[in-house]
Amino acid sequence: MNATDVSNRGPLLCIETSCDDTSAAVVDGQTIRSSVVSSQTELHAAFGGIVPEVASRRHTELLNVVIAQALEEAGALWSDLAGVAVTTQPGLIGALLVGLSAAKAIAYVRHLPLTAVDHLQGHIAAAYAAGVQAPFVCLVASGGHTLLAVVEEGVRYRVAGRTLDDAAGEAFDKGARLLGLPYPGGAELDRLAARGDPAHVRFPRALPRRLDFSFSGLKTALLYDLRERSAAEVAAQRADIAASYQAAIVRQLVDKLVRCAEEEGLRRIAVAGGVAANSGLRAALAEASAARSLDLYLPAPALCTDNAAMVGLAASFLRAMPWPDYLALDARASGAVGL
Ligand code: KG4
Ligand code: ZN
Repeated sequence: MNATDVSNRGPLLCIETSCDDTSAAVVDGQTIRSSVVSSQTELHAAFGGIVPEVASRRHTELLNVVIAQALEEAGALWSDLAGVAVTTQPGLIGALLVGLSAAKAIAYVRHLPLTAVDHLQGHIAAAYAAGVQAPFVCLVASGGHTLLAVVEEGVRYRVAGRTLDDAAGEAFDKGARLLGLPYPGGAELDRLAARGDPAHVRFPRALPRRLDFSFSGLKTALLYDLRERSAAEVAAQRADIAASYQAAIVRQLVDKLVRCAEEEGLRRIAVAGGVAANSGLRAALAEASAARSLDLYLPAPALCTDNAAMVGLAASFLRAMPWPDYLALDARASGAVGL
């Protein structure tokens, strides 16, 4: 499949269905004209986590409505669209297929070009909405990935470090579950930690080499800490334990991001992915960047968690496939990291 150089100018209809959020947006260059996200949180809460087939089926029910709302909020007609952009990898394969099939069908029947977007490149592109300019170092921390991306130009990046075990979002979610918090854990833990003492428990420092991350030991340390306490003690100190656990995750993320920027000789740093919505991380980054004269770019929380606007922002840096070359385009569960 040859992607010939069709530039992404004019309003794009953008679709993102890689996990459990059904989202659509209209984006024109770097201007977000609308962004609609229909979260499936309540649907999956009953199972305590995301059930892939349930997510895919729900996408089929919601996507048309979400697309119609994105067009309406942008004040755009179908005939105004200059192209379609969609996340094709990585993610839940059934969930990706729903978005990609819809995107291909819309682009085909309207004779529009289509841009395939990698989900991690989408997350990174959200940093541009915060005003960053390449080159910069971006910490990408989501439910499935945690890595340090040295962004050279647009959404082209090199991986300088990555997690050796769990992703940071996974560490939040598993910790939340151990603390008896409802799904989705990360945001719940964030809320609880806001009223706790982060110095209450001294969690061990993870020591993976150089710019890599490790979170699984921390999760085990939390498990042992909770086992040693009575149920009444856990109930009384849940906020303090949550704050200490969050602080340990945040410390590692901030340390490695700052170190990466120093090693790369770059002053601009950014964060992306669902964990970038964490208030403790945002506060710690503001402090660390001020102390070291780094320029910090924080996308709005709604642009950090999964959304389709970021797909459009990424598409403006990518080449579109002309009509109808994309008909055989496929979704992939795992994506190439470091494109
Ligand atoms: O990027 P994202 O929305 O989806 C993936 O690509 O995975 O990230 C979801 C992850 C989940 O692990 C979720 O618990 C975490 O981001 N998350 C948070 C917060 N909001 C979402 N973690 C900590 N604090 C938050 N406020
Ligand atoms: Zn994501």
